[in-house]
Amino acid sequence: MTKVAIREEEVLERLRRVNDPELNRDLVSLGMIKNLAIDGGKISFLVELTTPACPLKSAIESEIKKELSTLPGFEAVTLTFGANVRRGSPELEKSFVPGVKNVIAVASGKGGVGKSTVSVNLAIALAQSGAKVGLLDADLYGPNVPLMMGISDFPKTLQNEKIVPPEKYGLKLMSIAFFMEPGQAVIWRGPMLHKALQQFLGDVAWGELDYLVVDLPPGTGDVQLSLSQSLPLTCVVLVTTPQDVALLDVEKAIFMFQKVNCYILGVVENMSNFICPHCEKGTPIFGEGGGEKLAKEFNIPLLGQIPLVPEIREGGDSGRPIVIRAPKSEVALAFQEIAGEVAAKLSVYSMQRKGE
Ligand SMILES: Nc1ncnc2c1ncn2[C@@H]1O[C@H](COP(=O)(O)OP(=O)(O)OP(=O)(O)O)[C@@H](O)[C@H]1O
Ligand SMILES: [Mg+2]
Repeated sequence: MTKVAIREEEVLERLRRVNDPELNRDLVSLGMIKNLAIDGGKISFLVELTTPACPLKSAIESEIKKELSTLPGFEAVTLTFGANVRRGSPELEKSFVPGVKNVIAVASGKGGVGKSTVSVNLAIALAQSGAKVGLLDADLYGPNVPLMMGISDFPKTLQNEKIVPPEKYGLKLMSIAFFMEPGQAVIWRGPMLHKALQQFLGDVAWGELDYLVVDLPPGTGDVQLSLSQSLPLTCVVLVTTPQDVALLDVEKAIFMFQKVNCYILGVVENMSNFICPHCEKGTPIFGEGGGEKLAKEFNIPLLGQIPLVPEIREGGDSGRPIVIRAPKSEVALAFQEIAGEVAAKLSVYSMQRKGE
């Protein structure tokens, strides 16, 4: 019996039946199928996703295999995944950071809820997925990201008059702490602070980045306003604890960011449950269900919940964040899932903005 050779049109016709579940369109019309090659019954191609952190990769893969396997003459399919992260806003190209495709600011209404912890672990998780990531510690009043990342000395190298950010755990880092004497406090306000932040953004050789994660100080003050003025269409991840007071503060933050045209990607509920290291039982020390309540009330997605575990604090203090120390742990997985959610939401956002 002669073998049936599969034709390109047949493959594409099948792939048109497979949707990207987030973008709600088929892979072919989204232009995601590249390098299609057919050798008799053997098919191979590259699926170019909109983010390497795509949480739906395996769902898309099994859907593709299901559709292709029933083609007459089918023998095998070899799939490779790649990613081409879209630019969140075309205006960013003309901003202080022209090589940055998306800016993700991590904010909260209240201090000490875990913004820096979320920023660091989120940035590393995005980098672990294969994305090009930068982390900017914009907490001018209490910059502690270098400590959490385990970077103490900062090599002040220049490239075309710009400062080269040190790299660790696969990402580029810049912090005001690199320019301060230990224990020195920053008292900039208003225009001076605005200038310092813009210098930060513009004088750093970030290069090409898929995501720039910005760790903000708490509240709704000068830094937040300055950032939203300096970077067009910054996206925001809000961090809260389940406590009511923190939730009230986060409401204030929501109003402020909406007013300055920042897009709120969602809320991360941190310290949502204390897991006892002895009996593994969960205790909701800071209350329960707050993030969910907030998400419902303001119609913003709950991106994930992070339990209260000593390893997170230890990870921060030792300069080896939990996603590095224990990448397979439940908490690290929770951060990786949040990174996937954030990346997927940004893909949808940039697609909608372009009206594609
Ligand atoms: N889920 C968690 N489990 C245990 N410890 C945590 C958790 N999240 C944060 N921490 C610890 O709580 C402290 C405050 O966290 P972090 O510095 O990230 O908060 P922040 O919101 O950035 O604070 P600030 O408003 O001062 O900038 C740190 O010591 C951190 O290690
Ligand atoms: Mg902080």
